Amino acid sequence: ITVVPEIEMPGHAVAALAAYPEYSCTGGPFEVAKIWGVLDDVFCPKPETFAFLEDILSEVIELFPSEYIHIGGDECPKTRWKDCPHCQKLIQEKGLQDEHELQSYFIQTIEKFVNNKGRKIIGWDEILEGGLAPNAAVMSWRGTEGGIAAAQEKHFVVMSPGSHCYFDHYQGEPKNEPLAIGGYTPLHKVYEYQPIPEALNEEESTFILGAQANIWTEYMKTFDHVQYMIFPRITAMSEVLWGTAQPAHYEAFENRVVAHMRDWEKKGIRFSKAIYEVLSSVEIDTGNLYYNLKARQPEGIRYTNDGTEPHENSRSYSKAIPITKSQTIKTAYFENEQAKSSVITQDFVVSASTGKKIHLEYAPSKNFSQGKPETLIDGIQGDLERFGKNWLGFSGKDLVAVIDFEKPISFQKVTLNTYNGISSWIYLPRKVELLSSLDGKTYKKFLDLDEKTIQKNNGVIHEVFLPLKARYLKVVVQNYGTIPNGQPGAGNAAWLFIDEIIVE
Ligand code: ACM
Ligand code: ZN
Repeated sequence: ITVVPEIEMPGHAVAALAAYPEYSCTGGPFEVAKIWGVLDDVFCPKPETFAFLEDILSEVIELFPSEYIHIGGDECPKTRWKDCPHCQKLIQEKGLQDEHELQSYFIQTIEKFVNNKGRKIIGWDEILEGGLAPNAAVMSWRGTEGGIAAAQEKHFVVMSPGSHCYFDHYQGEPKNEPLAIGGYTPLHKVYEYQPIPEALNEEESTFILGAQANIWTEYMKTFDHVQYMIFPRITAMSEVLWGTAQPAHYEAFENRVVAHMRDWEKKGIRFSKAIYEVLSSVEIDTGNLYYNLKARQPEGIRYTNDGTEPHENSRSYSKAIPITKSQTIKTAYFENEQAKSSVITQDFVVSASTGKKIHLEYAPSKNFSQGKPETLIDGIQGDLERFGKNWLGFSGKDLVAVIDFEKPISFQKVTLNTYNGISSWIYLPRKVELLSSLDGKTYKKFLDLDEKTIQKNNGVIHEVFLPLKARYLKVVVQNYGTIPNGQPGAGNAAWLFIDEIIVE
């Protein structure tokens, strides 16, 4: 095992700057941050800053024999550099285009130093911006695009996209899990991971060194919790990277995990038992809703819909449950009459929109609810505390949805939730518009909500109006746009998250 240390620069540096404010643009003073985020104060690229960082890197290089030294490079706002006389003078002197090229200059300066010590640098995919240092390797985290671009330019790459590699996401039903930053990455999803992007040809693929699982600990106060998030997902990632994973034989893998669990128990390693949970999905077939359940042994699934907790004699599951009215279904998994899983409680809200045809003008991200438009009419609302499941996410784009009720109907209430999660780059929308139509061609706007109103209700949209008759409902929810300075992810596209469109 070779440990590759990461010394973060030029961003995520406030802890260092609190002790050494002279290496910032403004001189400080700074306080060590008490909450995570992307902060504007970053290292200023002056000679004394480089001397400081090179001093640290020299020590680190002596301690760690790895071929690569990780120098971070992610999430560096350019706000301070834009206003800093030193930074602006440096941009002029070096003939740089802008602050992005200054970041590239920063990374290349550090790379030369590391190379002179006989090592190579690796950094997050932002180091591609403004030109990539020649021998640098890239860690692709903001999706796979950075990794693809880098491999095509013949740079070595470690894949680490949020979709499969962030073990700070939920691995089981979010309602039953310790609070996490968000996302839903169950064991089987990790096991299905294909680290080599399809966009790469055979030669380019040789530049993919492998993948990395990330465990960021903002929500983890104890080492026990860290173990819980890592196990058993790390076993799936290991098989993926050894090249032995066979997603078609996931069950066999899960049986190996169960054997490992006995061993972990003996060793006192904490792990998640989410694989025993009942996995659910909603299927829509010609306007009808069905609740599909899956577990390690389907005959072990018990469920109720009368509010009681499922026990070993509750109704056993044999085929998809039709959902024709609003109700709550509770499921649990049993082996040998023993409950092996926690109970999953699922509320269904059946309304005029449930199971109807829905068309989205802009595609949502595949990373949330697999990007399925039906998520918005599947009778399931999202959890306002935990955005792991049941939400659709739009990166930088609006939701423009048309629901076809198949015939004119009368309705007087529309409910939808948008998610407020600035630390995860998720923003409440700028505005919401509701339009109706009888023919699907001419639409009439009948409701308009501005940003202030939406914020006052923290993104919960629940509007009652005079009954109107229409066959089509158009819902327009405008994305916030670009994340403002001083916030996590500043300069990137904001996410818009929506759970369900309920029409009554
Ligand atoms: C990262 O998650 N900021 C690399
Ligand atoms: Zn500066």
